[in-house]
Amino acid sequence: MGLLNGKVALVTGAARGIGKAIALKLASEGAAIAFTDLVIDENGKATEKEIAALGVKAKGYASNAASFDDTEKVVNAIAEEFGRIDILVNNAGITKDGALKRMTEDQWDAVIAVNLKSVFNFTKAVQPIMWKQASGSVINMSSVVGVSGNANQCNYSASKAGIIGFTKSAAKEMGLRGIRHNAIAPGFIITEMTGVLPEDVKKEWESKIPLKRGGTPDEVAKATLFLASDLSSYVSGQVIHVCGGMNT
Ligand code: NAI
Repeated sequence: MGLLNGKVALVTGAARGIGKAIALKLASEGAAIAFTDLVIDENGKATEKEIAALGVKAKGYASNAASFDDTEKVVNAIAEEFGRIDILVNNAGITKDGALKRMTEDQWDAVIAVNLKSVFNFTKAVQPIMWKQASGSVINMSSVVGVSGNANQCNYSASKAGIIGFTKSAAKEMGLRGIRHNAIAPGFIITEMTGVLPEDVKKEWESKIPLKRGGTPDEVAKATLFLASDLSSYVSGQVIHVCGGMNT
């Protein structure tokens, strides 16, 4: 008996990385999985198969999370195909790092659109469905740098801090219908996003982490499962740090 039997979860940006680990974790507890990514290519199809191999319904949808219109369309298509949406994980995100003095308007706009506007797009599109169901759990992927800031990431940190404000407000607004909103603030997690960092930068990060190592996508997925399931039935408007003790 899985923790999420009979539930439908929608995970954005889940063809790879943390989103994929989350989709697999929720599926392993019995949730049917709809996931999005910019394209569903061979890699996305392979992810779809891996999820379905856990014995649940799984379907990947190509959709740009930064686009309001794309999002409305994809949420409608998912609701039609899956019949309901119980869990929304706003995970899609990008970095376009650089010192503020060299940061372009495009770098700023792209990161705010993909990381922050996407949360508005999906939460707004899913809200009427959860409202009708009088239940739901929304989990937004923030970051420790949204709380503490980080040099060369003014755009990224602002987007992740914005997600926290959004989460707390939505939790206050929709609590009366039993809809919970929480954020996760991962620290340094080893994925393709962080894989591009030079070795010395990675080593420096790790030396500052009390647990002395980067986290795994599965460790973020475990916190997501807690927030997605009834294990967290009285937890809303919170930010859970999954950072090896880096941010306290
Ligand atoms: P990743 O780059 O490995 O995966 C992100 C996924 O989102 C990719 O599949 C990508 O194609 C997709 N995506 C990008 N733009 C999209 C768009 N406009 N529409 C739909 N999908 C889109 O990144 P990772 O590391 O798995 O990160 C996942 C989330 O966790 C992001 O929100 C990131 O900011 C956050 N995070 C990651 C940390 C890390 O150390 N890796 C630390 C803190 C937060």
